[in-house]
Amino acid sequence: MAEQRVVLAYSGGLDTTVCIRYLQTMHNLDVITLTVDCGQDDDFYEIEKRARSAGCLKHIFVDLKKEFASDFIIPSIKANGLYQNKYPLGTALARPLIASKLVEVAQEEDAPNVAHGCTGKGNDQVRFDLAIRAMDPRLKIIAPIRDMNLTRDQEMTFAKEQNIPVSDEAKKYSVDENIWGRSIEGGELENPFLEPPEDAFRFVSFHKDGIGEIEIEFRKGVPVSIDGNRTNINDLIARLTRIVGSFGVGIIDHIEDRVIGIKSREVYEAPAALAIIESHRDLEKMVLTNHELRFKAIVEESWSWLVYSGLWYDPLRVDLDKFIEETQERVNGKVKLKMHNGCLRVTGRESEYSLYKSNMSTYGGSSAFDQGLAKGFVELWGLQTIMANAIANKEVSHKQKEEGDS
Ligand code: ARG
Repeated sequence: MAEQRVVLAYSGGLDTTVCIRYLQTMHNLDVITLTVDCGQDDDFYEIEKRARSAGCLKHIFVDLKKEFASDFIIPSIKANGLYQNKYPLGTALARPLIASKLVEVAQEEDAPNVAHGCTGKGNDQVRFDLAIRAMDPRLKIIAPIRDMNLTRDQEMTFAKEQNIPVSDEAKKYSVDENIWGRSIEGGELENPFLEPPEDAFRFVSFHKDGIGEIEIEFRKGVPVSIDGNRTNINDLIARLTRIVGSFGVGIIDHIEDRVIGIKSREVYEAPAALAIIESHRDLEKMVLTNHELRFKAIVEESWSWLVYSGLWYDPLRVDLDKFIEETQERVNGKVKLKMHNGCLRVTGRESEYSLYKSNMSTYGGSSAFDQGLAKGFVELWGLQTIMANAIANKEVSHKQKEEGDS
């Protein structure tokens, strides 16, 4: 009989199912599986069945979709959270939430151990380990796949030996999904020159003609309605995923720098995240000053890096959130988007706090801008540039003169 307990973050996928058996056989532990619903389109009944047939002592399921949206996705929208300007951080945002629940359950269940199915090659191990250690450094963390340096092929063989069923998708790709997006890795995608096959995607559909138009309304930086219909954030994201994805929009395919130094080819689909960030950013450009925008861009880059690199619980993230929150006070308004054949663009925006004034920018009749003021401004703006060039030119002509004399 195993005496000690371990709480395992259990997604129901290949890695974590293999982990149940490893924790039992190699560590002689009773395994409590914890599955967290962050909006992934999974059959949680099937997942529980899988955990039980792999021999878990107890299975716990928690629906944290609301917390995920309010405490992680909304701050990321306000921060225009994109790692390397591309990846909307879907997986990175969910990890600290899952880890905090893992710690909570371990404490409730009196388990001195927690476990996750991360490999030693990715970012998720960093996110899990650091979040767990920040919340309860007494817990022992076991990561069987990393500890045993297992490859996916070895896991597959082990699963076969142990009669663990492996889905067709898992045979092809390693997938992580939640309401903010879907990450697809492995298999053919490891050739960075090869276009991802269509079967890698589930949110984005191909071969659809036609043009789609939507209007998103923001209040204090948060999207609150689509086409005038107010909805809660979870439904709004789900609706956008469907609408935007149906026009082929939402795929991200780039070379990414993992925290541990590996460059990897990453493929994501995140139609809602891309549409929301694109429109949020556009609205900010209308209401924030140039000074705010330039500084916020630096903050956004740091914020995204902290989240990506597993430092959600660093005080700096909280500090940056306070600044970001302050900037969102005036981010109210509507943004119109057009989707067509995989492309998305903003076609209009309006805000009660707009700093755009047509009587300033107009080239037409009713201008309120006094052009006479510009002349002096231009003079002073380039003062040092003009001086530096004058000095450089003087040196050149001096040299030329000397060369001519000799
Ligand atoms: N590269 C992404 C990240 O670091 C996704 C990682 C998880 N993806 C997966 N397919 N298992 O957040």
